[in-house]
Amino acid sequence: MKGIILAGGAGSRLYPLTLVASKQLQPVYDKPMVYYPLTTLIEGGIRELCLISTPHDLPRFRQLLGDGSRFGLTIDYREQAKPAGIAQAFLIAESFIGNDNVALILGDNIFYGGDGFNKAFAEFNGGATIFGYHVNDPERYGVVEFNAASQAISIEEKPKSPKSNYAVPGLYIFDNEVVALTKAQQPSARGELEITDLNVSYLRWGKLRVQRLARGFAWLDAGTSSSLHEASAYVQTIEKRAGVKIGCPEEAAFRAGFLSLAQLSDLADQMPNCEYRAYLCDVVAEAKRLTIQK
Ligand code: G1P
Repeated sequence: MKGIILAGGAGSRLYPLTLVASKQLQPVYDKPMVYYPLTTLIEGGIRELCLISTPHDLPRFRQLLGDGSRFGLTIDYREQAKPAGIAQAFLIAESFIGNDNVALILGDNIFYGGDGFNKAFAEFNGGATIFGYHVNDPERYGVVEFNAASQAISIEEKPKSPKSNYAVPGLYIFDNEVVALTKAQQPSARGELEITDLNVSYLRWGKLRVQRLARGFAWLDAGTSSSLHEASAYVQTIEKRAGVKIGCPEEAAFRAGFLSLAQLSDLADQMPNCEYRAYLCDVVAEAKRLTIQK
């Protein structure tokens, strides 16, 4: 399966922060926002990635993530010259996707907890898989309605009167049909190729799986100054309490088997003296200790 990170948009709700760096490059506590969705895809076992951003911001993402080899990945870069909706990602990345299935994650979505997505990635066998997460303000999102048998029966984009409290987070898994489907799609009234319209098509075909995320799972959105601050506070709280990092792609790549222990150790050695390096050194030391014990 291929993976796409969509990190476009003007980030106008974060102005003036976004005058010099795009939303997905802003810090969420101790690392750039894009590290979090990147880590989610790595945890899903995805090694071939494409990052889509504006012509203005793409060079900075390249500077940050390089060709991906540092994380045991390949990362392609594609420009979104003019934003025309989330689904446009499948047209921009068509040659990257080739004949594969594809997972799309939005660059400002932060997920944490349990193994919520592992099963979905592992069990994916065609159609589309999306998720449902209980929120207080569903009208800000795509909203999925379930019947008494827990089957999804409708999905609406930012409805004024939501039919449920279940929002659709920005992680979508599609089979290869999604490319042809997007090509045939008409833009919505606001002139965008809507991801919700793709999900509705799969729902009508009976090929949509909607997995409800458990209560203990965290889905944070960092698109406004307040939610960015709250996301940082959340990450700091968990990291301090548990002594583990959220959204650490180097560690995730090691645990996914994309990097060897020696590679992770070298990577940490090359970093300047900082908390991030100290954390990775601890991960290396712990892994060495466990290897010796075996
Ligand atoms: C987009 C989608 C929406 C989804 C949300 C998740 O909204 O259109 O369906 O629930 O992402 O973050 P946007 O954040 O672009 O307004």
